[in-house]
Amino acid sequence: MSTPFKLTRIPTLKTVADFRAHVASLGLDIPAEDAIATGDSPLLQPLSQVVVNGRTIGNRWAIHPMEGWDGTTDGGVTEEMRRRWQRFGESGAKLIFGGEAMAVRPDGRANPNQLIIQEHNKAGIAELREILVKAHQERYGNTDDLVIGFQLTHSGRFCRPVDKKRWESRIAYRHPILDRKFNVTSDDQILSDADIEELIGCYVKSARIAADVGADFVDLKHCHGYLLHEFLGAFTRPGKYGGSFENRTRILREIIEGIRADGNKIDVGVRLSAFDFVPFKPDPALSQPGKLGPGIPEDYSQCLPYRYGFGVNQQNPVAYDLTETFQFADLCAGLGVKLLNLSAGSPYYNPHIQRPAAYPPSDGYQPAHDPLIDVARQLNVVRQVRAHLQESQSTKAKSQNDSDSNSAFGLRTSSLALVGTAYSYLQEYLPHVAQYVVRHGWTDMVGLGRMTLSYPDILADATTKGTLTPRFVCRTFSDCTTAPRNGLKSGCYPLDEYYKVKPEYGQLKDIKKAVGA
Ligand SMILES: Cc1cc2nc3c(=O)[nH]c(=O)nc-3n(C[C@H](O)[C@H](O)[C@H](O)COP(=O)(O)O)c2cc1C
Repeated sequence: MSTPFKLTRIPTLKTVADFRAHVASLGLDIPAEDAIATGDSPLLQPLSQVVVNGRTIGNRWAIHPMEGWDGTTDGGVTEEMRRRWQRFGESGAKLIFGGEAMAVRPDGRANPNQLIIQEHNKAGIAELREILVKAHQERYGNTDDLVIGFQLTHSGRFCRPVDKKRWESRIAYRHPILDRKFNVTSDDQILSDADIEELIGCYVKSARIAADVGADFVDLKHCHGYLLHEFLGAFTRPGKYGGSFENRTRILREIIEGIRADGNKIDVGVRLSAFDFVPFKPDPALSQPGKLGPGIPEDYSQCLPYRYGFGVNQQNPVAYDLTETFQFADLCAGLGVKLLNLSAGSPYYNPHIQRPAAYPPSDGYQPAHDPLIDVARQLNVVRQVRAHLQESQSTKAKSQNDSDSNSAFGLRTSSLALVGTAYSYLQEYLPHVAQYVVRHGWTDMVGLGRMTLSYPDILADATTKGTLTPRFVCRTFSDCTTAPRNGLKSGCYPLDEYYKVKPEYGQLKDIKKAVGA
């Protein structure tokens, strides 16, 4: 049984000193600068080490891909999407890492309202990009340093392409815990090698569409339990896409080869779940109707060594092992991938490690410990991957008798830039931490997810005014996840007036009350 604990909420920490003291009391390393910097903020520095589609990214914050479960049923564009992309443009971020998940074919959608990046939606997707660019131009006066990617995906185990309530899972391998949890019942659901070869062709075609409509890069999504992420952990799968590291990463190599063989010069990024844990569940001993218990790991005692995930310690699968994460980062650098966005785990089976929150989504669990622990883990992993990349880079440079050049802030250069995740939970202290980690080279860029929905221009505000508008700060209520888990469109219902006035907001309150979320 887990031990209940009392969460110290971030808004009760009134000063940076209070925040630091609380972080220290948890024994964590989350550094924060004394004040929000404006003109000389490290967040305003261009990212000099990569050039994407001929462009230098103009500052150090990115918008993560954020989907809304709000497309048309044939994967097309809607008003909500247009508004979201406009707000991405207004955010001031000079890197739009993916926009939102776009399925490379209809049966690979995570929900019946996910965008599909196929010929029939080309005009709509082009329009989203144009809206974003125009909004950015109008507010910031320059788009030469704005880099936009599209996230290409197949949802694998988490496909629900037709009915919001019906899984139509296609998997890489049978999983001893997830199969039970998500109703995978037959080996027929395993994609064959021939199925994968066909799917690679779909990625290549979607990358062509992305290039045609002006995307600067495609993000080949390898995170959150979706198909290509699952393949990275396909230790038990026989054949050319399973078993060895080389086999488990073959899909990435073949997609990139396919894109190049198609004569498509588009740049490539990857979003990766850098580590994983076993699935979690609400502690049954502390759950009751109307009360969601704190998260505990599913029983994995029968699954050791745990060969069912990527970046997870096989002997102790509630800890990470970055050995292969480092190898994967090196592989990406070697393949000419320009941007690597590091996330973690999956929102479906261990949301606390992926998107730390004070309030759980309705299919999740109450926090079993301070979510800052989960924030610190992601910050630290990105820092380790970056240190690893710098080391491999400098070894390579030395062997080529090449000299490293230093960028502003004394950063060593690397041809693969990293974007970090899980900053939204930091709330008021997001700018203070973001400044530090960029200034001190823990990451190249910080990425914003949920905060983007309530306060897209938080870092534009921070770096121009030196202050934030507290009423827009995301409090991690998780309504943006609870809504789609219950068949509703996503959005920030508590803080964004556009969603607040929708009848769904009332529905959401009832849903949350019923489950105790
Ligand atoms: C409503 C919602 C939609 C999301 N959509 C995507 C997506 O399309 N692709 C993706 O890689 N991650 C997606 N994510 C994950 C976020 O990009 C991000 O990793 C996560 O929210 C943690 O970052 P944060 O702490 O800044 O919110 C989504 C998250 C939420 C809450």
